[in-house]
Amino acid sequence: MNKIILSVMLLISSFMLAAQDKGKKVVDQCYVCHESLGSDEATLFKKDIHFQKGISCADCHGGDRQSDDMDKAMSKEAGYKGVPKGNEITQACIRCHASSEMMKKYGSKIPTNQFELLKGSVHGKLAIDGAERIVQCITCHNAHGIVEVTNPNSPVYPTNVPKTCGKCHDNPVYMRSYNPSLPVDQLQKYRTSVHGMRNAKGDPKPAECASCHGSHDIKNVKDVRSKVYPTNIPETCSKCHSDPQYMKEYKIPTNQYALYKKSVHGVALFEKHDLSAPVCNSCHGNHGATPPGVESISEVCGTCHALNAELFSSSPHKKAFDKQKLPECETCHSNHDIEKPTSKFLGVTPDAICSKCHKPDDKSKGYMVAKEMRLMIDSLASTEKIDSALVEEAEQKGMEINEAKFKLRDATQASMEARTMVHSFDEAKFNEVVNKGLTVTSSVKADASAAIHEYYFRRIGLGISVVIISFLALMLYLFIRRIEKKNANN
Ligand code: HEC
Ligand code: HEC
Ligand code: HEC
Ligand code: HEC
Ligand code: HEC
Ligand code: HEC
Ligand code: HEC
Ligand code: HEC
Ligand code: HEC
Ligand code: HEC
Ligand code: HEC
Repeated sequence: MNKIILSVMLLISSFMLAAQDKGKKVVDQCYVCHESLGSDEATLFKKDIHFQKGISCADCHGGDRQSDDMDKAMSKEAGYKGVPKGNEITQACIRCHASSEMMKKYGSKIPTNQFELLKGSVHGKLAIDGAERIVQCITCHNAHGIVEVTNPNSPVYPTNVPKTCGKCHDNPVYMRSYNPSLPVDQLQKYRTSVHGMRNAKGDPKPAECASCHGSHDIKNVKDVRSKVYPTNIPETCSKCHSDPQYMKEYKIPTNQYALYKKSVHGVALFEKHDLSAPVCNSCHGNHGATPPGVESISEVCGTCHALNAELFSSSPHKKAFDKQKLPECETCHSNHDIEKPTSKFLGVTPDAICSKCHKPDDKSKGYMVAKEMRLMIDSLASTEKIDSALVEEAEQKGMEINEAKFKLRDATQASMEARTMVHSFDEAKFNEVVNKGLTVTSSVKADASAAIHEYYFRRIGLGISVVIISFLALMLYLFIRRIEKKNANN
């Protein structure tokens, strides 16, 4: 019973003490003295979010905040720690920022995971001579004059991030001491991109370093968890580019990711796990993220589809497209929603690509060639189909047909070459490849037909011999019967 009364009394008195504290508002003598001295730290601290929350110099430096005596205030006995160095710096910050209890004391609900993330990041793992981490909280946030990250004066506000990261990444001498092979051109290139140019003009919405790489959780770019790892890139870019609300003022489409996902490239990446398929940055660059200009489009596609690009460059379309400022590959294949091409693309039927420009009434050479190419590739395809059916039939009948089967692969190869050769838009060159295929298919057809013929020939031969043997057997039987009858009669 006594215990309960005691604890109730204790509770009441602690409430009273707290109320007293609030009313009095403890004066931060550290700040008062340093401010009167006109120190830079105190001047900056006046605008600091920590100052606004009632946090004192002593919360990071230690000491007695209530004493106006310098020696007492800044004495070891009062817990004064001096200027933190190396890992002590981050230690000073995470006393609060890694503790939700501490943060709750100040009525704050912001995340408390920054140090956890930083420790696992490429920066958190880096240490000077194996001792202290080279990146501390203040490397990006400063020590005094810290404001909310949404304040345009914060060093991590989007328009200031490039400079903050550039402190190191734009400094070749510094970076070389850690990794001589790491490029140091990110900031320079970034400044030439649509993102970077808008950022420099004060627009916080376009991507900056942290929107693509993260902030506390930055990983090595080859790490599968990196936001810029190929399989994660489309998601990273689409955070903005697929958000119509966010992108409204820019009046550009917001369908790139949706289209890309269904394209040959998207399917190759996400479904076939083919890391050689292009993602957003393969075509748009990493730091120079601009749409590949009209002139450079075949260069982008051509880095992987070299043969198509080479053929296109010497084709009649090269000059014609340049004149009309048409992009080279995109005109026929589009950019984000590239479909799997088939011979339906070719020719002069209404759904063929060629008929978008080459109309029947103008009877131009382009029209005639498109029509001819389609006929040729269709005939190769249909003879290939017939051949495979014949080869299969012969095989089922147990005939030895390996050589024809082997040749059939040459025909398939020729039809693949022909699909590429389309890009020469040259009838003679195209026909040469198709004819090579047709020669093979006719020889396969001959071989397979011969095998099947042979099978039937053998069957007929077998039939005749069966008849002859049966006849002879019957004769023999009758003969034996006659002899037996004769013997019985005797
Ligand atoms: C009455 C004035 C006064 C008070 C109170 C005072 N300081 Fe100082 N402080 C100074 C002066 C003057 C210096 C510079 C002289 C020096 O370097 O020792 C200084 C220096 C410092 C330095 C730099 C030390 C260094 O090694 O470079 C820090 C950090 C500091 N004070 C923090 C505090 C903190 C925290 C408190 C409160 C717990 C506090 N001060 C209270 C006057 C004061
Ligand atoms: C949020 C934590 C924090 C608070 C609050 C804080 N400081 Fe600091 N202070 C630091 C850190 C961290 C450093 C080390 C900076 C560095 O290494 O560049 C530092 C460095 C200093 C230095 C040394 C500067 C130098 O160039 O050597 C002085 C002096 C100082 N603080 C004074 C103060 C005073 C005065 C206040 C209150 C008005 C204050 N600090 C409040 C974290 C803090
Ligand atoms: C490499 C630079 C960098 C370092 C180092 C860094 N930060 Fe940040 N921090 C940022 C950026 C950029 C933001 C802006 C918001 C975002 O993108 O997360 C941020 C945001 C914050 C926020 C706002 C809430 C949040 O999580 O977004 C807090 C609090 C914070 N940082 C604390 C810390 C602490 C504590 C440390 C040290 C353990 C630290 N930061 C180290 C770059 C950094
Ligand atoms: C005594 C506890 C304490 C210490 C020590 C402390 N902070 Fe804070 N910090 C806070 C509180 C409380 C806030 C305000 C949070 C809010 O607004 O919800 C804050 C806010 C911030 C913000 C702005 C977050 C936002 O919401 O935009 C940053 C950045 C930050 N601190 C960085 C640091 C760094 C860097 C250090 C170390 C040099 C540090 N803090 C040391 C308590 C602390
Ligand atoms: C639009 C997104 C985007 C922006 C903005 C961006 N990066 Fe990158 N960053 C990437 C991509 C994508 C890669 C390459 C990934 C790969 O090679 O697979 C990369 C690679 C890097 C690398 C590794 C070395 C290299 O150059 O390949 C560093 C370091 C880097 N970025 C730093 C920065 C800095 C600093 C900034 C700001 C000035 C920045 N990045 C802005 C997307 C971006
Ligand atoms: C204190 C200097 C410093 C600051 C500030 C800094 N970095 Fe770094 N960063 C480094 C160093 C050093 C490396 C490691 C190089 C290595 O060993 O490969 C690195 C590595 C990276 C990597 C991984 C590169 C790779 O090899 O894949 C990326 C991405 C990166 N930083 C982005 C950023 C971004 C974004 C910012 C700003 C938010 C930033 N850095 C701020 C020094 C810094
Ligand atoms: C933080 C949001 C954000 C992220 C993340 C982002 N972007 Fe952007 N991007 C923008 C904004 C805003 C613009 C400006 C639009 C404009 O000026 O037309 C832009 C412009 C562009 C443009 C130029 C469009 C044009 O024709 O003007 C391209 C291309 C582009 N981004 C590609 C990318 C790629 C690729 C990625 C990922 C590696 C990416 N972006 C990540 C916000 C973002
Ligand atoms: C195979 C190459 C390629 C890939 C992959 C690619 N793009 Fe594009 N992108 C282009 C081309 C080509 C253009 C048109 C350039 C022009 O017309 O000047 C373009 C245009 C854009 C534009 C400008 C607006 C528009 O839609 O015309 C944005 C934004 C953009 N791409 C973002 C992305 C994003 C985000 C991704 C990943 C989801 C992506 N791109 C993947 C080639 C590509
Ligand atoms: C980074 C390399 C790369 C770039 C850049 C690239 N591609 Fe591809 N592309 C591939 C790969 C890999 C495939 C194979 C996908 C599959 O079928 O599995 C492919 C498939 C294709 C196909 C389908 C081929 C087929 O046989 O079905 C077409 C068409 C195509 N790409 C056109 C383009 C165009 C147009 C561009 C430029 C706007 C482009 N590609 C840029 C790597 C690339
Ligand atoms: C005038 C229209 C046109 C242009 C321009 C064009 N293509 Fe094609 N492309 C086609 C047609 C038609 C096919 C399908 C042929 C077939 O399957 O019979 C095709 C098929 C392809 C294929 C699949 C066949 C193969 O070669 O593996 C790829 C890859 C390809 N194109 C890439 C490109 C690239 C890269 C460019 C730019 C240098 C480009 N194309 C320009 C019409 C075009
Ligand atoms: C975007 C419009 C466009 C598309 C699509 C297009 N062409 Fe053309 N083509 C032209 C132009 C323009 C010329 C040059 C003027 C002319 O001769 O008609 C040309 C010329 C040609 C020529 C050369 C004619 C000559 O005079 O030597 C051939 C062959 C040709 N195209 C075939 C094709 C084939 C096959 C396709 C479909 C795969 C196709 N074109 C799709 C616009 C196009």
